[in-house]
Amino acid sequence: MEGGESMLEENYEIFYGAQEKSTRDEVDPEAWRIVDEYVAEHPGGQEQLIPLLHRVQGKIGYLPFPIQEYVAEKLGMSPVEVYSVVSFYHFFTTTPRGRYQLKVCMGTACFVNNAQTICDILGDLVGLEVGGVTDDRLFSLEQVRCIGACGLAPAMMVNDEVHGHLTPKELRKLIRKLKSGARRQEEGGPE
Ligand code: FES
Repeated sequence: MEGGESMLEENYEIFYGAQEKSTRDEVDPEAWRIVDEYVAEHPGGQEQLIPLLHRVQGKIGYLPFPIQEYVAEKLGMSPVEVYSVVSFYHFFTTTPRGRYQLKVCMGTACFVNNAQTICDILGDLVGLEVGGVTDDRLFSLEQVRCIGACGLAPAMMVNDEVHGHLTPKELRKLIRKLKSGARRQEEGGPE
């Protein structure tokens, strides 16, 4: 990877308007490594784009702009083509999210079952407002529409896992479990 100011950085306003800017130096080094490794293992072009973006986001939680540009270069595409795919699919994000993405369902069934209270309690437990991410990037908090688990209302997702029939007690247990899992992993054990 070459250093210096990237084409996206130079033309940032044109590509991204008012969105949050990140520079190459701010990107987790792991992301560059994943791209290099993936491209080496999966030769090809454009058809590798979505799986590659998934892999990077799965590891670092989001798709910062310099990485989009790097992916474009590696797959022989223009940065704008990559960005249009990233912005088209709702599961891709260009802003940092936590390792544990807490998504509280605010759909009708959940809403009438105190989803707002659940969301407030969760926010207090992790110290976040909706849309925020903790400084250590462990948690982020979002509100989403129906996640297809209305029978379990009030429900939420932690990454791709559904949790239902939520109560304040369940929430405290869940957050404790996630925190201690993360701690164990940092110490080199299983999550
Ligand atoms: S409304 Fe929450 S899961 Fe459907």
